[in-house]
This record gives sequence, C-alpha cells and structure tokens, in this order.
Amino acid sequence: MMFPLRRNRRLRTNEAIRSLVRETIITPNDFLVPLFVVEGKGVKQEIPSMPNYFRYSLDILENEVKELWKLGLKSVLLFVKVPDNLKDNKGTEALNPNGLMQRAIKTVKNVCPDMLVMTDVALDPYSSYGHDGIIANGKIINDDTANVLAEMSISHAQAGANFVAPSDMMDGRILTIREALENEGFIDTGIMSYSAKYASAFYGPFRDALDSAPVDMVDIPKDKKTYQMDYANRFEAIRETEMDINEGADIVMVKPGIAYLDIVRDIKNIIEVPVAVYQVSGEYAMIKAAAEKGWLNHDAVMLEQITAIKRAGADVIASYFSKDVIKLIS
Ligand code: PBG
Repeated sequence: MMFPLRRNRRLRTNEAIRSLVRETIITPNDFLVPLFVVEGKGVKQEIPSMPNYFRYSLDILENEVKELWKLGLKSVLLFVKVPDNLKDNKGTEALNPNGLMQRAIKTVKNVCPDMLVMTDVALDPYSSYGHDGIIANGKIINDDTANVLAEMSISHAQAGANFVAPSDMMDGRILTIREALENEGFIDTGIMSYSAKYASAFYGPFRDALDSAPVDMVDIPKDKKTYQMDYANRFEAIRETEMDINEGADIVMVKPGIAYLDIVRDIKNIIEVPVAVYQVSGEYAMIKAAAEKGWLNHDAVMLEQITAIKRAGADVIASYFSKDVIKLIS
C-alpha cells in the first residue's frame, strides 16, 4: 500500500496541536513602543497618514505610558516634534537641557520609573533642512554630526534615558557616542544602533508625524541616500552591523521590517547581540489603508506580519501596532 512518508498535516489538525508545536510566540516582552511627543497641553493629535496613532503633549503622555505599562509594554522609544522656529542646521535645540525630549524623558520616568526609556538620536526633527546631519556645501558633514549626536546622547542620559538610539547612519558615531557616555560616567546607558537602516520610501508617514522631511531647496540633498543604505545591498548590512557592535552598540537594528526580513535573518545568523527590527510608519499605513478599504483583515494581517518579523529573528520589535497586538492576543 502506498501512503505519504510523512503526514505533515497531522500537526495542523486543530488549534490545540498547532499551538503545541508553534515555534514563534508573541508576548508583550517583544515590543518597543514608539511615541511621538509635541508641545502643548491636552494635545492628542491623530497623524493623518497613520490612522489611530497620535502625537501627545506631556500631560497626555503620562496617561498613555501608564496604559502601556498596564498592558505589559515596558519599553518606549521617544520622538519629538520640534516647532519650526527652534530648528537650525546644527540641531542646537537638541542639546537644550529643558528641551521637549529632555522633558519627555523625565515625564515618563516620573509616572513610570521602571519603564525602559529609549530616545531617538538624530538631527532631522531639529534640522531646518530635515536631514540627519549638519549640512555644508550641499553635503552632510559626518564627523561634526557625530560629535553633536554624542552631546545629544549625554543630554538624554542626564535626563534619565536608559538607552539612546542613534538613527542617523553617520560613520563612526557609535564609538563617538560610547566614548562620550563613558567619559561622562554614563557607563550603564545602552546604545541601540540603527545599524542597517535603508534609504526607504516607507518612512513617509513618520516624516509627516514629525514634519521632518528633507526640504526642497537648491543645494540641499533631496533624499538621504548618501547616508542611509541602498536597499539593493545585503553584505553592506553585515558590515555596518559588525562595525556598530565593535564600536559599542548593545542592540543592533534592521529597518524597515517586512521588506527586509532576509537581512534580519542574515544578521541573526552571525550576530551575537540582540537584534531589533523596526516595522516602520509606511508598513503601518499600508495595513491601515487596505483595512479601511475592506481589502485586508486588519488584525489578521497585523499579527501575521509581527509574527513574521519575530520568526525572521527579531529579539525586539519596534512597532506602531504594539498596543493593538497585545490587546488582540491577551
Ligand atoms: C529619523 C528617523 C526616521 C525614522 C526613525 N528615525 C525617518 C528617516 O530616517 O527619515 C523612521 C521611522 C518610521 O518610518 O516609522 N532619523
């Protein structure tokens, strides 16, 4: 009698057996929650290209953070929307000890001392040109930018940040930041490096959220391709990641998520520090838009993508869906 050598379908018979042999389980511990902060009081502004995602003023941020903690979400990644009149080429406002980021860090730590606070370190929200670095003669100046990022990191550490998260892609900035932190005595401040960050069109909605898109001006680069990576490249991601680890990164990141899971797996296979994946704003927007049209099942697609990110090798998932996912599965 002929029969299939293996009946793989036995392990798929019903939910009990499927859940028994399931390899990838999503829990609140997987998530890092990005939060957008604005000046003002009582502000909760929905971001038009990110439905059901908001910018919060500090008072509302307090409630949000408490809610996250109750849901078991214990790590946040802070971004600030800087008023136009405080932007300049050098990101001077980024170093203001009483700036919005510095106050946001204190606010979170104040209402929820055990919440892990990570901060975005890059100049773009502070830059009048919408770039992650200082510009001179139409170019992004690498080493001067790295020095400002190090000062920014110190300022965040002083305000109480647990981790700084440089998202700028300047060369050598992890070492510059690590040295600065060590010199100032912040030996326990972590660095989560955006190591393999690609020049991606998926960042569009985020730039709406922070009003941080590169400006359209003569002599100003129109895109970020001289510092963020070419999405056609794979080995470069390994090179970038190894370099950041050697320079002192505690966690490395691949960004964006879904379209880059081959890179996540490559890195996970050879890298021995935790790997974070950022499911970025455009990925969020695509699911929201398709669901709004009734073309995709929002919750099902969300869970499938988050699970795929973890299956590919993510130890940490930065996602605008963090709350939605946890509410769905709890
Ligand atoms: C800026 C920064 C960006 C994101 C995180 N930090 C945008 C960019 O590089 O232009 C994107 C996040 C997202 O799209 O969700 N340094």
